[in-house]
Amino acid sequence: MTELTRTGVEGLDDILNGGIVKNSTTLVSGNPGAGKSILCLQYLYNGVEQFDEKGIYLSFEENEDDLREAAESIGFDNWADHVENGDIKVYDKRKLLRENDFSSSLEILLDDFEDEQYDRLVLDSLTMFELFFDDEREKRTYLLKFTDILKENELTSLMTNEQGAVFPDTDIGLENYLTDGNIYLIQTPTDSGVNRYVWVAKMRKQNIETDIFPMEIAEGGLRIHQNASAFSMMSEDDAPI
Ligand SMILES: Nc1ncnc2c1ncn2[C@@H]1O[C@H](COP(=O)(O)OP(=O)(O)O)[C@@H](O)[C@H]1O
Ligand SMILES: [Mg+2]
Repeated sequence: MTELTRTGVEGLDDILNGGIVKNSTTLVSGNPGAGKSILCLQYLYNGVEQFDEKGIYLSFEENEDDLREAAESIGFDNWADHVENGDIKVYDKRKLLRENDFSSSLEILLDDFEDEQYDRLVLDSLTMFELFFDDEREKRTYLLKFTDILKENELTSLMTNEQGAVFPDTDIGLENYLTDGNIYLIQTPTDSGVNRYVWVAKMRKQNIETDIFPMEIAEGGLRIHQNASAFSMMSEDDAPI
């Protein structure tokens, strides 16, 4: 039987048919502001709070303080305690970019994996991570190597991807093929704000619900609703998005 890692995000584990496949890597794609970083924070926070699993947050975008403030603002009140006692380990951009190449950062991570058992890892964002590399070939090699290392260390991982369009005009990036799962967070503008949706496009080895589900972001983080029929690619006034 496939072992699953529950996200603990309301509604999401149901549409994942129980959770994310253990030791897999899932890409979380979406526009800026779609909720990718909040989902990452929530995934690690729930890991500690609900499942007694330790996590690592690699952030190429924010500093440790920004992450803590984001976590606290959404109601993850014990975030700082978990970081303090090592249940959540944060490598922020200051730490990650201190090393001038990714293999040095990787060495530090590998040391950590030897000393301590972690279950969950987040890379936020893959888009920024890729800026480490000068050419496409080097980028692919490292991405492959990195996803292998995560599997070897039995980590169940989320990687965020800044991606505006669900169906981009350009070729779909390599990262879509390298990862085991693909979750899109979608936001469409309305008169009064945005409508938010989640779409699990792929989850290897899992019989997932492939409908698009409405979601909201509020105190407590992401919450996914189960009434799939509400989705429309048109905004409320029927103007094309
Ligand atoms: N406390 C909150 N209540 C409601 N919505 C929030 C709250 N905090 C953040 N958000 C929403 O979440 C969005 C940011 O999500 P974030 O995960 O940082 O996006 P991404 O990482 O995809 O760029 C904000 O634009 C805001 O709309
Ligand atoms: Mg973000």
